[in-house]
Amino acid sequence: MTILVTGGAGYIGSHTVVELQNAGYDVVVMDNLVNASKKVIGRLEAITGKKVPFYETDIRDREGLEEIFTKEKIDGVIHFAGLKAVGESVEKPWEYYENNISGTLTLVDVMRKHNCKNIIFSSSATVYGDPAFVPITEECPKGTCTNPYGWTKSMLEQVLSDIYKADNEWNVVLLRYFNPIGAHKSGTIGENPNGIPNNLMPYITQVAVGKLPQLNVFGNDYDTPDGTGVRDYIHVVDLALGHVKALKKFESGSGLNIYNLGTGAGYSVLDIVKNFEEATGIKIPYEIKPRRAGDIATCYSNADKAAKELGWHAQYGIKEMCADSWKWQSQNPNGYDE
Ligand code: NAD
Ligand code: WQD
Repeated sequence: MTILVTGGAGYIGSHTVVELQNAGYDVVVMDNLVNASKKVIGRLEAITGKKVPFYETDIRDREGLEEIFTKEKIDGVIHFAGLKAVGESVEKPWEYYENNISGTLTLVDVMRKHNCKNIIFSSSATVYGDPAFVPITEECPKGTCTNPYGWTKSMLEQVLSDIYKADNEWNVVLLRYFNPIGAHKSGTIGENPNGIPNNLMPYITQVAVGKLPQLNVFGNDYDTPDGTGVRDYIHVVDLALGHVKALKKFESGSGLNIYNLGTGAGYSVLDIVKNFEEATGIKIPYEIKPRRAGDIATCYSNADKAAKELGWHAQYGIKEMCADSWKWQSQNPNGYDE
């Protein structure tokens, strides 16, 4: 089975390519490199010992997609490609809707023309908004997103669900990721944010490596055990393995399926600081700052559905997530830049 991985040079996509190749799938990667480095491809090949066919193509480029689907026999698509910076999406909503929505519509159109009707889509826990209840099951109603990025995920879930409803030959798997952190055990691939990181773990690792002076903790007056925000952090390799398991849904032709990919455990910002310090022996200075606009108090999954139906559950604990994030950052202080 040949899987096209869009956004396969990015953080989650690259880790998924490793696990797909390890599981015996043929993989074709496409990425426009707007938020990734071409060096990832060489590093992937070094990890798996297999060739990684790569197309530098944009999901909005119909002719580029046509070329891939004509040259390669694609059986299914894992669709990671998209812009994902929450704050930037508030400043540039048009760019986010155009890239993520137009791009996905073009991709799906080319797929159906080539009779490829199997897609796994990278969705997000952000579609639950401020969740109606925790732990969040897939039955939890979708909520009001606080930013255009989140709306692109919510809208694309609707688009793909409607496409399935109109044509039951499609297999659509919507995977709602919680908070991916960590990196491949080799420390050769990992998360490589542009500029100052928005997300907690890359910020902590950049403090640890000496690029940033201290962590700013956004609020300690939430209704949580220590007042700081609680999230469901998941090792990116576990997340990648969730995609391999989800591919089985293509083989069984089971239609439209939605899964949370999380660990089911919630950790506060200060829990993460403590676990990082214990896992690495590095002290993380921090200061309490005001809340960040749009943040919610608590978000963690109930991941029982993925366990039951996909036979998947997260294997790595918080210490390994911290240690592996640090291994990547310490071996690559400037990410993929020399
Ligand atoms: P990433 O930015 O590292 O990967 C996305 C990749 O898509 C990048 O390599 C980028 O160059 C590529 N891309 C963007 N627009 C493109 C286009 N028009 N054509 C071709 N390639 C394009 O991000 P990631 O963290 O690996 O996220 C992967 C997917 O998972 C995204 O869809 C993201 O929204 C989703 N997601 C991420 C998180 C998270 O916390 N990282 C959580 C939930 C969902
Ligand atoms: C985690 C916690 C912050 C940075 C975001 C997106 C979401 C999804 C995952 C894609 C919060 C606190 C953070 C810092 C801090 N992405 N924090 N200081 O906000 O849960 O989710 O990434 O779909 O859509 O919104 O993740 O890592 O930014 O924050 O105190 O410098 O850490 O307030 O409580 P978040 P995060």
